[in-house]
Amino acid sequence: MDFRQHTASLDALASVACDALLVVVAGEKAERTLDTTLARLLADAVAHGDFEFKRGKTVLLHRPAGVKAARVVFAACGAATPKSLKAAFAAGFGQLKGGGSKHVALAIGGAGDIGAEQAEALVAAVGETTYVYRHTKPSAPAAGALERVTLLCGKAAAKAVSQGLARGHAVAAGVTLARELANRPGNHCTPTYLGEQAKKLGKEYGLKVEVLDRKAIEKLGMGSFLAVAQGSAEPPRFIVAQYHGAAKTQAPIVLVGKGITFDTGGISIKPAAEMDEMKFDMGGAASVLGTLRAVAELKPKLNLVVIVPTCENMPGGRAIKPGDVVKSMSGQTIEILNTDAEGRLILCDALTYAERFKPACVIDVATLTGACVIALGHHHTGLFTADDALAAQLLAASTASLDPAWRMPLDEEYEEALKSNFADMGNVGGRAGGAITAAMFLRKFTGKYRWAHLDIAGTAWKSGAAKGATGRPVPLLTHFVLSQAS
Ligand code: BES
Ligand code: MN
Ligand code: ZN
Repeated sequence: MDFRQHTASLDALASVACDALLVVVAGEKAERTLDTTLARLLADAVAHGDFEFKRGKTVLLHRPAGVKAARVVFAACGAATPKSLKAAFAAGFGQLKGGGSKHVALAIGGAGDIGAEQAEALVAAVGETTYVYRHTKPSAPAAGALERVTLLCGKAAAKAVSQGLARGHAVAAGVTLARELANRPGNHCTPTYLGEQAKKLGKEYGLKVEVLDRKAIEKLGMGSFLAVAQGSAEPPRFIVAQYHGAAKTQAPIVLVGKGITFDTGGISIKPAAEMDEMKFDMGGAASVLGTLRAVAELKPKLNLVVIVPTCENMPGGRAIKPGDVVKSMSGQTIEILNTDAEGRLILCDALTYAERFKPACVIDVATLTGACVIALGHHHTGLFTADDALAAQLLAASTASLDPAWRMPLDEEYEEALKSNFADMGNVGGRAGGAITAAMFLRKFTGKYRWAHLDIAGTAWKSGAAKGATGRPVPLLTHFVLSQAS
């Protein structure tokens, strides 16, 4: 997809050359900012009951008289915030989806001069509405003919718009990579495959990428990670990818992503209903790799390390059993009371490994708990950290990227639930506050650096008819990383 910008005045839209003209109207007064032809078309559509100035409303006009474009779409948006504009963009492009428009020109009426955020929201909306999964379904209908989108803006906004388009483009590419990886079924997207994809990304962007095999992982003493991996015939991988945009001496940001390519629950096996969705249990891994791609594309002046422990969680003759005690890389022992709480078991060793980078901060991302879905539903990602400054920065990135997150508690009192008579800790803390006790478990491995945890169990994918990966929280993470550039 090609995104461009073009300096154009709203009172000359009728003469813009394109296949479709998408006009987002922010409020009823937007009409006054349009040229007479478009203002008349808009007034007509309203008069005949085909359009209202209500969020989500759209109307498609085919070959309207006096307009150069073959199609005109009006899309209503309430207040011109990036969030409501993004929804209006998505609704407008939804009208054109599957159609013959190759070149869409987009204008925003009634919003004043637009900036980087609006431009970025546009690219995000187009990316989200045009993505189609086809890897194992080549017969899936194409998203349409769309090739180029031109954002019409005033001269004063040109620089901000071009920055917004570039950032939007990079984030959208990261989101698409994350969706593509996570959508692939477990028999395609194996730990080996994720390792290969990381290597490929490294080649493409000149990044240092190491993929450790079981032997190398054993050497590191990752007894907890290996315990999860031992039940599967698929060999585990430990991926470490590095982006250098600043002096080697500068402390890097480290992102750690949970890479369970399929979670059966192990011996504590899950019920059959919706178990297929556990192919998305590598959504954290997909999102940190997607973020790496976005960052590598934008080349900010900072260092970034992405770590992915990846394996399958399977039952079997070699699988871990409830009550087994394992020794983590940190030296702390863990009683595995429930083999389905495997995410924390692979993450804890990755968090210990992260110490060697002397990180500025470490953010882990994981489809960690069903309890987080119960607490927050499918809208907000759960954010856990004891570091108020880091929480504020992550929440600011969440707001700016339109990728919602909500801070959850992480008080010491919750640690009690993890006590074990047979090891330094148990791997589960009971049903109450399950997302929090999971975060408390991880916290025991993060004493040496600033740390936050994102539980994306409710936000990494959608169920039902629209089943598929969302690519979240690539926008949040990319914004956060960019905000740390010097
Ligand atoms: N991958 C799951 C978490 C999950 C479940 C995400 C459902 C999205 C939807 C994780 O490995 C898991 O099974 N967690 C258990 C933890 C429990 C045994 C303490 C859970 O949430 O049930
Ligand atoms: Mn599990
Ligand atoms: Zn899991």
